[in-house]
Amino acid sequence: MSSSTFPKGFLWGGAIAANQAEGAYLEGGKGLTTVDLLPTGKKRWEVMLGSVDSFTPINGQMYPSHEAIDFYHRYKEDIALFAEMGYKALRVSISWARIFPNGDDEKPNEAGLQFYDDLFAELLKHEIEPVVTIAHFDVPVHLVETYGSWRNRRLVHFFEMYAKTIFKRYKNKVKYWMTFNEINMLLHLPFVGAGLVFKEGDNQEEIKYQAAHHQLVASALAVKACHEIISDAKIGCMLAAGSTYPYTCNPGDVLSGMEKDRESFFFIDVQSRGEYPGYAKRFFRDNQLTIEMAEGDEALLKNHTVDYIGFSYYASRVTSTDPEVLKNITGGNVFGSVENPFLEKSEWGWTIDPKGFRITANQLYDRYQKPLFVVENGLGAVDELTPDGEVNDDYRINYLKKHLVEMSESIKDGVEILGYTSWGPIDIVSASTGEMKKRYGYIYVDKDNEGNGTLKRYKKKSFHWYKKVIETNGENL
Ligand code: BG6
Repeated sequence: MSSSTFPKGFLWGGAIAANQAEGAYLEGGKGLTTVDLLPTGKKRWEVMLGSVDSFTPINGQMYPSHEAIDFYHRYKEDIALFAEMGYKALRVSISWARIFPNGDDEKPNEAGLQFYDDLFAELLKHEIEPVVTIAHFDVPVHLVETYGSWRNRRLVHFFEMYAKTIFKRYKNKVKYWMTFNEINMLLHLPFVGAGLVFKEGDNQEEIKYQAAHHQLVASALAVKACHEIISDAKIGCMLAAGSTYPYTCNPGDVLSGMEKDRESFFFIDVQSRGEYPGYAKRFFRDNQLTIEMAEGDEALLKNHTVDYIGFSYYASRVTSTDPEVLKNITGGNVFGSVENPFLEKSEWGWTIDPKGFRITANQLYDRYQKPLFVVENGLGAVDELTPDGEVNDDYRINYLKKHLVEMSESIKDGVEILGYTSWGPIDIVSASTGEMKKRYGYIYVDKDNEGNGTLKRYKKKSFHWYKKVIETNGENL
């Protein structure tokens, strides 16, 4: 690429989530959230799927969110580093339980509100635009214990109260919002996506879609409130994206690919087009799922659609109808995918497919005709800190560079993209595995899987590379 394709004002930056970065899990009046119950190791996966033994942390068990990288106390130092790279935007999430420790409290927690006030002020001081996710994989545990979390309609009200509180408080500081992080994750990791805990005999499929309906209504109410309270704000949805390829040109495979994509598009179809698509209604009918909807829901969904489509892109997926082919599922991918023989994988088995990024962006834009915002992308890899305090992460630069080139191709295709915030600009806790070893950052954090380390920050080679990318607005990739 010779001259920049990226529009002026393109929002270059990075993205983190409260629970994976902040730590200080009970400080400043914060309540316990679902993520605080995710341990490391094998048990983590069971809990993420909705099998929870205890609503309080168990002694002797390691919970990586409790300290994370201590962003809560070190955010000034970290933001200074992001500013040095020239960030135009930082995507963060607000921890619901910092604002409403129990979720159903009558009044918000002032210390929690103040923390984000200070954080946003610090970003603005460096001319970094805050991009804020209202719920990134966390629900106050009290709401799970008392109401069964998102399976209960009352969560809609608690979420609306939370959203209105933060819109009012930060209306002069935050102009970019997103409702639920990777809303489609609910179907795959129900405890992570919606705080769902299952008992024996539960109709899990029905509960998941009922919870989804509640989140979709809550999202529409948040869009409505955001537009009313902050007239110059933009509020989007957030999809874990990645197109599904058919393994062969057998129409059965092609249909299966389309259906797989629709499992995810379902959410965005409602959030962006404002109504349940016909294929979803058929799915409910065919599977005898009864989803309760209240009077007024339809109009609400229709009238309060999102302004932009936020999405994460890590990998494309492959599907097939051939049982033999289906045996070759890649490890590590939450969504489950047949191995793509044309592509390499990360150390965690996630397919690496830069061209898939262009395909996905085009597919989303063709479908919704709304601006996109790439709010996550990156490579989780093992890094080695040299005795001189350096990390030579050429593999990361290589990954990101190829993806940025494809993003610029999408822009040339006519896709409108507001910005690009790569995932984990500073090493944080991995959402899926709870490891520190799975690093995405331009900044290395001295901490290992067992929680040892000084938490000292080091600039990696990619730090200097990304700085240059931003400085040149993506020219000469
Ligand atoms: C997305 C999430 O699924 O992917 C992030 O929104 C997460 O929270 C990211 O960290 C990368 O996944 P992982 O499991 O490598 O941390």
